[in-house]
Amino acid sequence: MERDPQAHWLETETALHYARAAVRVGLWASEHALIEKHFLKSHRILELGCGGGRVALGLLRSGYADVTATDFSPIMVSLARAVLADHDESWEKIVEQQDATALTYPEASFDRAIFAFNGLMCLPSRDHRLATLRSIHRVLKPGGILLFTASDREKGANAAYWAKEERPADVIPGDRWHESDTSPVFIHSSTEAETRGELAETGYTILECPLSTEVASDGPLVREFAGETRFYVARKA
Ligand SMILES: C[S@@+](CC[C@H](N)C(=O)[O-])C[C@H]1O[C@@H](n2cnc3c(N)ncnc32)[C@H](O)[C@@H]1O
Repeated sequence: MERDPQAHWLETETALHYARAAVRVGLWASEHALIEKHFLKSHRILELGCGGGRVALGLLRSGYADVTATDFSPIMVSLARAVLADHDESWEKIVEQQDATALTYPEASFDRAIFAFNGLMCLPSRDHRLATLRSIHRVLKPGGILLFTASDREKGANAAYWAKEERPADVIPGDRWHESDTSPVFIHSSTEAETRGELAETGYTILECPLSTEVASDGPLVREFAGETRFYVARKA
């Protein structure tokens, strides 16, 4: 039977996992460092795939006041609202339901966009990733910056796994269904060259793309939650 790559994100247990992460894990040291480097407190920020509100909560608590947090999943939107309202009732209203592949905001609405913790790589295919990169490009202001991560299958901590991976001929390199506490989750692990190509094809210039371990030493909770991943900081060309 064909598996649905989006089903995982619609489950209550998955959403609870990400809501708990918003409270227990918070912003990673590496995320925080790159946000402080590339985002201004005055910027209008769009978050894609906000999950349980982990990054939105971290941004708001760090003084970024103009944040719109979005997710396609109704249960993620509900739990992110609850997590944010628990800190400040007025924060609940910054969460909106949006599909990142087809954002409905007017052109050039945001200074910065963030699709944290491999969210772009959870989309079902390369075509979906390209549609999403184009959709974000449209709503970013000229010179606006997108920050996201992608698990790297060629370099760093995950390379050894991928080097010995036996892949059926009909499976796209990097595509994998991972076991999780709830239903299996589809994630694509890319190479730097591959993601650089997708960014160039959709109108971005890369400013930097370090591995998370090259940016900061994330604590044990973050390492358990997220492992190592590669950040991409890309400017709308
Ligand atoms: C790996 S989780 C990351 C959650 C959160 N950003 C964090 O770091 O804790 C990926 C998120 O992307 C969301 N997502 C998946 N496909 C999406 C889409 N097409 N549009 C918007 N969000 C999507 C999922 O619902 C999920 O919340």
